Amino acid sequence: MEIIAIHEFTVKIIHEAGERIRQSLSEKLEIETKANANDLVTNIDRETELFFIEQIHSYDPAFKILGEEGMGEPLESLDGVVWIIDPIDGTMNFIRQHRNFAISIGIYVDGIGKLGYIYDVMRNDLYYAIEGQGAYMNDRQLERLQPLPLHEAIIGINATWVTPNRYIEHNKMIDLVHHVRGTRSYGSATLEIASVVCGRMDAYMSMRLSPWDIAGGAVIANEVGAIVSNLGNEAINLEEQDTFIIANPKIHKTIIEQYVDLK
Ligand code: IPD
Ligand code: CA
Ligand code: CA
Repeated sequence: MEIIAIHEFTVKIIHEAGERIRQSLSEKLEIETKANANDLVTNIDRETELFFIEQIHSYDPAFKILGEEGMGEPLESLDGVVWIIDPIDGTMNFIRQHRNFAISIGIYVDGIGKLGYIYDVMRNDLYYAIEGQGAYMNDRQLERLQPLPLHEAIIGINATWVTPNRYIEHNKMIDLVHHVRGTRSYGSATLEIASVVCGRMDAYMSMRLSPWDIAGGAVIANEVGAIVSNLGNEAINLEEQDTFIIANPKIHKTIIEQYVDLK
Protein backbone atom coordinates (compact mmCIF):
# COMPACT_ATOMS: atom_id res chain seq x y z
CA MET A 1 0.00 0.00 0.00
CA GLU A 2 1.39 3.37 -1.04
CA ILE A 3 0.90 5.26 2.24
CA ILE A 4 2.05 8.68 1.04
CA ALA A 5 -0.21 8.58 -2.04
CA ILE A 6 -3.17 7.62 0.14
CA HIS A 7 -2.26 10.38 2.59
CA GLU A 8 -2.20 13.01 -0.16
CA PHE A 9 -5.51 11.74 -1.53
CA THR A 10 -7.09 11.81 1.95
CA VAL A 11 -5.96 15.38 2.63
CA LYS A 12 -7.45 16.42 -0.71
CA ILE A 13 -10.86 14.86 -0.12
CA ILE A 14 -11.02 16.12 3.48
CA HIS A 15 -10.46 19.68 2.26
CA GLU A 16 -13.07 19.23 -0.48
CA ALA A 17 -15.59 17.85 2.00
CA GLY A 18 -14.83 20.71 4.39
CA GLU A 19 -15.53 23.25 1.67
CA ARG A 20 -18.86 21.56 0.86
CA ILE A 21 -19.81 21.64 4.56
CA ARG A 22 -18.91 25.35 4.89
CA GLN A 23 -21.01 26.12 1.79
CA SER A 24 -23.94 24.19 3.25
CA LEU A 25 -24.14 26.54 6.22
CA SER A 26 -25.86 29.15 4.06
CA GLU A 27 -28.61 26.65 3.16
CA LYS A 28 -31.44 25.28 5.27
CA LEU A 29 -30.41 22.08 7.08
CA GLU A 30 -32.67 19.03 7.27
CA ILE A 31 -32.39 17.87 10.88
CA GLU A 32 -33.54 14.48 12.21
CA THR A 33 -33.06 12.59 15.46
CA LYS A 34 -31.51 9.11 15.75
CA ALA A 35 -31.25 7.05 18.97
CA ASN A 36 -32.77 9.80 21.16
CA ALA A 37 -34.01 13.39 21.02
CA ASN A 38 -30.48 14.78 21.50
CA ASP A 39 -28.84 12.47 18.95
CA LEU A 40 -29.01 14.62 15.83
CA VAL A 41 -28.18 14.00 12.20
CA THR A 42 -28.52 16.27 9.17
CA ASN A 43 -28.63 15.82 5.43
CA ILE A 44 -25.07 17.20 5.39
CA ASP A 45 -23.75 14.42 7.68
CA ARG A 46 -25.17 11.88 5.22
CA GLU A 47 -24.11 13.73 2.07
CA THR A 48 -20.56 14.13 3.42
CA GLU A 49 -20.29 10.43 4.22
CA LEU A 50 -21.58 9.54 0.72
CA PHE A 51 -19.06 11.94 -0.81
CA PHE A 52 -16.24 10.13 1.02
CA ILE A 53 -17.52 6.69 0.02
CA GLU A 54 -17.73 7.64 -3.67
CA GLN A 55 -14.28 9.23 -3.65
CA ILE A 56 -12.63 6.37 -1.76
CA HIS A 57 -14.19 3.67 -3.90
CA SER A 58 -13.20 5.43 -7.09
CA TYR A 59 -9.62 5.45 -5.71
CA ASP A 60 -9.71 1.74 -4.81
CA PRO A 61 -12.91 -0.32 -4.72
CA ALA A 62 -11.23 -2.85 -2.39
CA PHE A 63 -11.05 -0.34 0.48
CA LYS A 64 -13.63 -1.08 3.18
CA ILE A 65 -15.47 1.80 4.86
CA LEU A 66 -17.09 2.06 8.29
CA GLY A 67 -19.01 5.34 8.50
CA GLU A 68 -21.18 6.62 11.32
CA GLU A 69 -24.21 7.15 9.11
CA GLY A 70 -24.06 3.60 7.75
CA MET A 71 -24.00 4.66 4.11
CA GLY A 72 -21.30 2.07 3.29
CA GLU A 73 -21.52 -1.70 3.43
CA PRO A 74 -21.70 -3.47 6.79
CA LEU A 75 -18.23 -4.18 8.14
CA GLU A 76 -17.61 -7.77 9.15
CA SER A 77 -14.02 -7.47 10.36
CA LEU A 78 -11.03 -5.14 10.44
CA ASP A 79 -9.15 -7.31 7.92
CA GLY A 80 -7.71 -5.47 4.93
CA VAL A 81 -7.70 -1.69 4.49
CA VAL A 82 -10.51 -0.14 6.52
CA TRP A 83 -11.45 3.55 6.54
CA ILE A 84 -13.32 4.56 9.70
CA ILE A 85 -15.14 7.85 9.16
CA ASP A 86 -17.10 10.36 11.17
CA PRO A 87 -18.34 12.80 8.49
CA ILE A 88 -19.29 15.43 11.07
CA ASP A 89 -18.25 14.97 14.69
CA GLY A 90 -20.11 17.43 16.86
CA THR A 91 -23.33 17.60 14.86
CA MET A 92 -25.08 19.55 17.61
CA ASN A 93 -22.36 22.21 17.41
CA PHE A 94 -22.61 22.16 13.61
CA ILE A 95 -26.35 22.86 13.80
CA ARG A 96 -26.40 25.33 16.70
CA GLN A 97 -23.00 27.02 16.65
CA HIS A 98 -21.77 26.69 13.08
CA ARG A 99 -18.33 25.92 14.55
CA ASN A 100 -16.57 23.44 16.85
CA PHE A 101 -17.18 20.37 14.69
CA ALA A 102 -14.78 18.17 12.74
CA ILE A 103 -14.35 15.53 10.09
CA SER A 104 -12.45 12.52 11.36
CA ILE A 105 -10.90 9.62 9.46
CA GLY A 106 -8.74 6.70 10.60
CA ILE A 107 -7.22 4.32 8.06
CA TYR A 108 -6.34 0.88 9.45
CA VAL A 109 -4.65 -2.10 7.83
CA ASP A 110 -5.58 -5.43 9.44
CA GLY A 111 -6.54 -3.50 12.58
CA ILE A 112 -3.31 -1.44 12.79
CA GLY A 113 -3.70 2.37 12.60
CA LYS A 114 -1.70 3.74 9.66
CA LEU A 115 -3.16 7.21 9.04
CA GLY A 116 -5.25 9.48 11.27
CA TYR A 117 -7.03 12.78 10.57
CA ILE A 118 -9.10 15.30 12.51
CA TYR A 119 -10.14 18.35 10.50
CA ASP A 120 -11.56 21.36 12.35
CA VAL A 121 -13.74 22.54 9.47
CA MET A 122 -14.35 26.17 10.43
CA ARG A 123 -10.81 26.88 11.67
CA ASN A 124 -9.35 25.05 8.66
CA ASP A 125 -6.96 23.20 10.98
CA LEU A 126 -5.92 19.69 10.00
CA TYR A 127 -4.44 17.40 12.65
CA TYR A 128 -2.95 14.26 11.17
CA ALA A 129 -0.40 11.50 11.60
CA ILE A 130 1.25 8.82 9.55
CA GLU A 131 2.27 5.79 11.62
CA GLY A 132 5.93 6.10 12.62
CA GLN A 133 6.37 9.49 10.95
CA GLY A 134 5.11 11.88 13.61
CA ALA A 135 1.98 13.99 13.99
CA TYR A 136 1.21 17.41 12.60
CA MET A 137 -1.18 20.29 13.00
CA ASN A 138 -1.17 21.79 9.50
CA ASP A 139 2.52 22.33 8.68
CA ARG A 140 3.75 22.18 12.27
CA GLN A 141 5.06 18.92 13.71
CA LEU A 142 3.57 18.21 17.12
CA GLU A 143 5.98 17.60 19.98
CA ARG A 144 5.84 14.52 22.15
CA LEU A 145 3.84 15.28 25.28
CA GLN A 146 5.86 16.40 28.30
CA PRO A 147 5.00 14.88 31.69
CA LEU A 148 2.98 17.04 34.05
CA PRO A 149 1.48 16.50 37.53
CA LEU A 150 -2.27 15.94 37.74
CA HIS A 151 -2.84 19.10 39.76
CA GLU A 152 -1.56 21.13 36.78
CA ALA A 153 -3.74 19.30 34.24
CA ILE A 154 -6.68 20.60 32.21
CA ILE A 155 -9.10 17.76 31.59
CA GLY A 156 -12.03 17.37 29.22
CA ILE A 157 -15.04 16.04 31.07
CA ASN A 158 -18.79 16.17 30.60
CA ALA A 159 -20.63 17.95 33.46
CA THR A 160 -23.03 15.00 33.73
CA TRP A 161 -20.37 12.81 35.36
CA VAL A 162 -20.21 15.01 38.47
CA THR A 163 -23.94 14.50 39.05
CA PRO A 164 -25.53 11.20 40.15
CA ASN A 165 -25.63 8.99 37.06
CA ARG A 166 -25.81 5.32 36.12
CA TYR A 167 -22.30 4.97 34.68
CA ILE A 168 -19.71 6.22 37.16
CA GLU A 169 -19.30 7.08 40.84
CA HIS A 170 -19.80 10.84 40.70
CA ASN A 171 -18.19 11.69 44.07
CA LYS A 172 -14.81 10.50 42.76
CA MET A 173 -15.30 12.65 39.66
CA ILE A 174 -15.94 15.61 41.96
CA ASP A 175 -12.62 14.86 43.72
CA LEU A 176 -10.89 14.79 40.31
CA VAL A 177 -12.43 18.08 39.24
CA HIS A 178 -11.30 19.68 42.51
CA HIS A 179 -7.78 18.29 42.17
CA VAL A 180 -6.99 19.37 38.60
CA ARG A 181 -6.25 22.89 37.40
CA GLY A 182 -9.31 23.17 35.15
CA THR A 183 -11.95 21.40 33.09
CA ARG A 184 -13.30 21.92 29.58
CA SER A 185 -16.06 20.49 27.41
CA TYR A 186 -16.20 21.26 23.69
CA GLY A 187 -18.98 18.93 22.44
CA SER A 188 -16.87 17.20 19.81
CA ALA A 189 -14.94 14.13 20.91
CA THR A 190 -12.47 14.43 18.05
CA LEU A 191 -11.69 18.09 18.77
CA GLU A 192 -11.18 17.19 22.45
CA ILE A 193 -8.76 14.46 21.34
CA ALA A 194 -7.06 17.01 19.05
CA SER A 195 -6.65 19.32 22.05
CA VAL A 196 -4.88 16.58 24.01
CA VAL A 197 -2.47 15.59 21.23
CA CYS A 198 -1.49 19.25 20.90
CA GLY A 199 -0.98 19.66 24.65
CA ARG A 200 -3.72 22.30 24.99
CA MET A 201 -5.53 19.87 27.27
CA ASP A 202 -4.05 16.92 29.20
CA ALA A 203 -6.86 14.35 29.25
CA TYR A 204 -10.33 13.75 27.86
CA MET A 205 -12.71 11.00 28.87
CA SER A 206 -16.10 9.76 27.81
CA MET A 207 -18.52 7.10 29.02
CA ARG A 208 -19.45 6.03 25.50
CA LEU A 209 -17.73 6.61 22.20
CA SER A 210 -17.96 4.80 18.89
CA PRO A 211 -15.12 3.63 16.61
CA TRP A 212 -15.49 6.69 14.31
CA ASP A 213 -15.07 9.06 17.29
CA ILE A 214 -11.64 7.65 18.16
CA ALA A 215 -10.14 5.89 15.11
CA GLY A 216 -8.38 8.92 13.60
CA GLY A 217 -7.36 10.39 16.95
CA ALA A 218 -5.82 7.14 18.19
CA VAL A 219 -3.28 7.16 15.33
CA ILE A 220 -2.33 10.76 16.09
CA ALA A 221 -2.14 10.01 19.84
CA ASN A 222 0.44 7.25 19.28
CA GLU A 223 2.76 9.65 17.49
CA VAL A 224 2.89 12.15 20.39
CA GLY A 225 2.95 9.60 23.22
CA ALA A 226 -0.60 10.23 24.44
CA ILE A 227 -2.16 7.10 25.95
CA VAL A 228 -5.56 5.93 24.73
CA SER A 229 -7.59 3.15 26.36
CA ASN A 230 -11.00 2.43 27.73
CA LEU A 231 -11.72 3.44 31.31
CA GLY A 232 -10.76 -0.07 32.44
CA ASN A 233 -7.26 0.55 31.03
CA GLU A 234 -7.80 -1.96 28.21
CA ALA A 235 -6.86 -1.36 24.58
CA ILE A 236 -9.45 0.46 22.48
CA ASN A 237 -11.75 -1.73 20.40
CA LEU A 238 -12.70 -0.41 16.97
CA GLU A 239 -15.60 -2.80 16.52
CA GLU A 240 -17.91 -1.55 19.27
CA GLN A 241 -18.87 1.34 21.54
CA ASP A 242 -16.94 1.64 24.79
CA THR A 243 -15.73 4.03 27.46
CA PHE A 244 -12.69 6.06 26.44
CA ILE A 245 -9.80 8.08 27.82
CA ILE A 246 -6.90 9.85 26.15
CA ALA A 247 -4.33 11.35 28.48
CA ASN A 248 -0.81 12.58 28.97
CA PRO A 249 1.21 9.45 29.91
CA LYS A 250 2.05 10.85 33.34
CA ILE A 251 -1.60 11.08 34.46
CA HIS A 252 -3.42 8.37 32.49
CA LYS A 253 -3.04 5.57 35.06
CA THR A 254 -3.64 7.83 38.07
CA ILE A 255 -6.94 9.09 36.67
CA ILE A 256 -8.15 5.54 36.00
CA GLU A 257 -6.90 4.00 39.25
CA GLN A 258 -7.73 6.79 41.70
CA TYR A 259 -10.76 8.54 40.23
CA VAL A 260 -12.66 6.22 37.86
CA ASP A 261 -15.13 3.91 39.59
CA LEU A 262 -17.44 2.48 36.94
CA LYS A 263 -20.79 1.12 38.13
C1 IPD B 1 -20.70 13.03 19.40
C2 IPD B 1 -19.73 14.10 19.85
C3 IPD B 1 -19.90 14.37 21.34
C4 IPD B 1 -19.73 13.10 22.16
C5 IPD B 1 -20.71 12.06 21.67
C6 IPD B 1 -20.50 11.78 20.18
P1 IPD B 1 -21.53 13.16 16.82
O1 IPD B 1 -20.50 12.73 18.01
O2 IPD B 1 -18.40 13.72 19.64
O3 IPD B 1 -18.96 15.31 21.80
O4 IPD B 1 -19.96 13.38 23.52
O5 IPD B 1 -20.53 10.86 22.41
O6 IPD B 1 -21.44 10.80 19.75
O7 IPD B 1 -22.79 12.39 17.06
O8 IPD B 1 -21.72 14.62 16.88
O9 IPD B 1 -20.78 12.67 15.64
CA1 CA C 1 -21.06 12.26 13.48
CA1 CA D 1 -18.96 11.52 16.55
